Parts: sequence; C-alpha cells; structure tokens
Amino acid sequence: MPTLHWIGKEKVINHHLDVPFKVLEHSYGFDNGKQSDKETNSGNKIIHGDNLEALKALLPEYEGKIKCIYIDPPYNTGNEGWVYNDNVNDPKFKKWLHSVVGKEGEDLSRHDKWLCMMYPRLVLLKKLLSDDGSIWVSMDDSESHRLRIILDEIFGENKFIACNIWQKRYSRENRQAIGDTHEFIYVYAMNPDKFKIQRNKLPLGAKQLKVYKNLNNDPNGAWRATSFSAQGFRPNQMYEIVSPKTGKKFTPPEGSCWKKIESEYFKLFEDNLIYFGKDGNAMPQRIQYLKDIEGIAPWTWWPHEEVGHTDESRKEIQKIFGSQTIFDTPKPVRLIERIVHIACNKGDTILDSFAGSSTTAHAVLNLNKQDNGNRKFILIEMEDYAETISAERIKRVIKGYGETEGKDGSFDYYELGQPMFIEEGVLNEAVGLEKIRQYVFYTETKTALIELKHKDNDTFLGKHNQTAYYFNYESEKVTTLNHDFLATMKTKAEQYVIYADNCLLTKDYMTKNHIIFKKIPRDITRF
Ligand SMILES: C[S@@+](CC[C@H](N)C(=O)[O-])C[C@H]1O[C@@H](n2cnc3c(N)ncnc32)[C@H](O)[C@@H]1O
Repeated sequence: MPTLHWIGKEKVINHHLDVPFKVLEHSYGFDNGKQSDKETNSGNKIIHGDNLEALKALLPEYEGKIKCIYIDPPYNTGNEGWVYNDNVNDPKFKKWLHSVVGKEGEDLSRHDKWLCMMYPRLVLLKKLLSDDGSIWVSMDDSESHRLRIILDEIFGENKFIACNIWQKRYSRENRQAIGDTHEFIYVYAMNPDKFKIQRNKLPLGAKQLKVYKNLNNDPNGAWRATSFSAQGFRPNQMYEIVSPKTGKKFTPPEGSCWKKIESEYFKLFEDNLIYFGKDGNAMPQRIQYLKDIEGIAPWTWWPHEEVGHTDESRKEIQKIFGSQTIFDTPKPVRLIERIVHIACNKGDTILDSFAGSSTTAHAVLNLNKQDNGNRKFILIEMEDYAETISAERIKRVIKGYGETEGKDGSFDYYELGQPMFIEEGVLNEAVGLEKIRQYVFYTETKTALIELKHKDNDTFLGKHNQTAYYFNYESEKVTTLNHDFLATMKTKAEQYVIYADNCLLTKDYMTKNHIIFKKIPRDITRF
C-alpha cells in the first residue's frame, strides 16, 4: 500500500507510547442546572487539556469502548487570528513539536507539522474505538488528501466506509474562480461488517413524507404505489397478470419483467398489496405503507437543507450566547445529529477530542431529549475557552436559552492532572492511591477497576479471568510479600499477582501456589 512520508514522521509514529499518563482531576459536576463539587457520574465529560494527554488518560476506562468518534480538527488553512489558531503555529503546539521532533521541527512546512500533530492522536483514538465503532473526521481541501492516506495507514484501507460531502454554503462566491461550497466527512469503521449491520436508517424528511397519502381511508394509513416491473428478462417473471376489477390483462413493459415470480405475486395480491389504479385499468403496482418504512438509507450527499450550513451554526451560537462572533467555526447541530444518528444506538458514548464550541454535546443532548436516549458525550478542548465556551454552551443547552426549551442532562468537568510517574519511573504519590490502584489494575487486565466492597484485605484490587490482584503499597513504609501477608488474603483464585516492595517467599513456594510477585514500581507497566 502506498504510504505518505513527511519530515518528522519517524519521530511521531510511536510517540503515543511516550506520552506521559496523567490522571484526570475532577473540577466540578453540573447536575439539575447547578454546579457543585460532586461528581455526577453521568458519563458525560468535558476535559480541558491537550487531547494527546487527555486521550491517554481516558484509556483505562474507555479503551475499546467508544462507539463513535467525531473530530473536527484544525483544517490547516493558514489563517491566523481566529478564536483558535488554524495553522498549527499555536505556541503550545510549537513547544510540543520541539520536544518530540527536536530542532528538525523548526524547518517543517505547515503540512509536515499538521501531520505530526494528527498522527499520534489518531493512533490513540483508534485504541479507544469499540469493535463495532466508527470514526468520523471533518476536513476541507487544505489537508483532506493527506488525511485520507494517514487514515488508511492507521485504520486500514479496508476499513474505509465513505467520504461524505457536506454542503456548507448555499450562496455563490464571486471572489473565487470556482466557489468552494463543501467539506468532507471521512468515515472509517473498526469492523465494516458490524458497522453495516447496525447502521441506523435516517428518518424520512418532509419531502419524502409528502409522497405517502391516504386517498381511500385505508385503515393501514398512508401509502404510495411503486413500480412492480424491473428492467431485464427473467423467464419465470414474465407471466400474465389480470386486473380483478376489469379483467384487463397485463404483461411486463418492453425490456422488463415483473419484480417477483408468480407465486410471490399471488401472495402480495392476497395481502391487498397490489394496486391497479383507481378504475382498475392501470399497470399493476406495489403498495408500500408508510408504517412499514423504517427510514431511508444514508448516502454520501449531505445537502444543507438536510443538515444545516455554516450560517445556521453561527446563528445558533449567537442565539445561545447572545453575542456576535464568539466562535468562528462551529458545525451545525443537525450535521452532528445525523452522524450520531447513523453511528450510535441510544446508550452509546460519543467522543469529540477537538470540541470547540461543543456542538457534539449539543447534538447528543438534543437526540436524547427527542427519543429518551441515554447517549453520552466526552469532549476535549485545550484552549481556555473550554470553560467559557465549551462547558458554558452545554450548561445553557441543558437549562434552555431564549425560546429554546432545556434539554436536561448533566456532566463533569475535568482538568488534566499530575503524571502517574515522576523522574526515574517513581510513582507520583500526589495522584493519590485510588488512581494508582486503577492504573495498575488496568495495565494488568485492560479493564476498569470498579471499587466494590469486598471481604479481602485493603490491598486487594479485584479478580479477573481467575487471577486475583493485590497492590501492597504504603507511601511511608516498605511493604513485603511474606507468609504474614498471604494469611490476610481471602480471595480464592487459580493465580495470584501480588505487587509489593519486597518479596520473602521462595521461588518454589510461589510456583507451587501460583503466585507471581511484582516489584513496585519496577514491574508496573507503562503504556
Ligand atoms: C475546528 S474547531 C472544532 C469546532 C467544533 N466542531 C464546533 O462545532 O464548535 C477545533 C478545536 O480543536 C481545538 N484543538 C486543537 N488542537 C487541540 C488539541 N491538541 N487538544 C485539544 N483541543 C484542540 C481547538 O482549540 C478548536 O477549538
């Protein structure tokens, strides 16, 4: 498969492994329209910080669990002076680039820089996607051709689902030779077969609904007549059909056959699903009831009438905040609603790691209100407006603004906290024992530690796949795995993994009793 090369690539392809693991510090919860110190545990989260570190921080709880990722990263248009900086010259980004790519980073073109920024983030996003999940990426012509190649490389060419065209403008642009009216939304699925099976159909729009009528007071409701003939020649679909009302005989039109074989036609006829026109003299047609239509299959053409345009999204923000331009590039809520509708079921989690003005959360709250769903959102935003715009918009959407009714819901706001390890791999006690325990359990089992009441000693982490895990750690004391410690353990398992500072058990004893000793901090896995 052809791949893309750029300056700095070799420094960033495995960079996700070097990103320090930082814990998430809970700042406040927002519930019932009020802010408090209490964690809502609603599953809805906003994280303020660089998404590279924030995505890593999400791994213990969410690896392989996110159903839908939508991202709208900087397009790298070269424009300066926007509310956020779109040409990867942001000082925070430059600092990061210098630390990862080194001095070489100073000579990179803006395309090299953009690719360096995107690559490790996409690698981490992939780790978070569930087996039946999909990622949706907005982009315009500035980087879309390069984006497609790295998406192929990271997710797999065979995971490509579609490139949707979103019509962002509806008026002509006289200043350009050919006016730019669209953007792309690339879709890749972890497993295209699973994505296909559970893809949700779109509700019929007003235009499609108009086609269904109930002209004859049919108790089954509105219906429409569709053609019963198909192009081609299939001998067993070439029979004669007789109108029951007039006795008029029909054969398929020139170059066509009927859509079904004769026995299937009779079944439809008996079920009153064949229509010969008002007077019984028209070519047979098939009746399709509105109640039997699940919706329409999505396609790659997303016109502004169906999903909104950029003017609509700016006006929406102005309605919420009551000011002129506080954020320049919001997406229309209807656009993200469509993505969530196709990609998610009612209880799924949607992640947006370039949150901006939180349109994704707005779309999730709208859909939940409409269908009583329980979809959850996780948003990451690095700029300081994470609080004043990203979180504030969600609060206003929940409470209601102007004439718009509140959508209910709650969320928790987090800052990126301390790193788990300080220099020379020493555990950072400042993060607290609870977070250290969660980290260790996750590195061992790849599952989240849910602290439940149990009857074992305080060092017990949990049992997973017939292995019991213990983390014998005290900040002020050296801990030892010995027979006294074993006497305090109560959980029966096929194998025991025990972390401590020292071990006084013999190798033979441990082998015989299926005990594995792991030294703190040496044997704690970094990921
Ligand atoms: C195009 S805007 C997203 C707009 C959003 N879809 C909306 O509807 O409002 C991109 C956002 O990503 C944020 N961003 C850029 N790099 C980031 C990073 N490394 N970590 C977190 N956020 C980042 C920018 O600050 C900006 O707010």
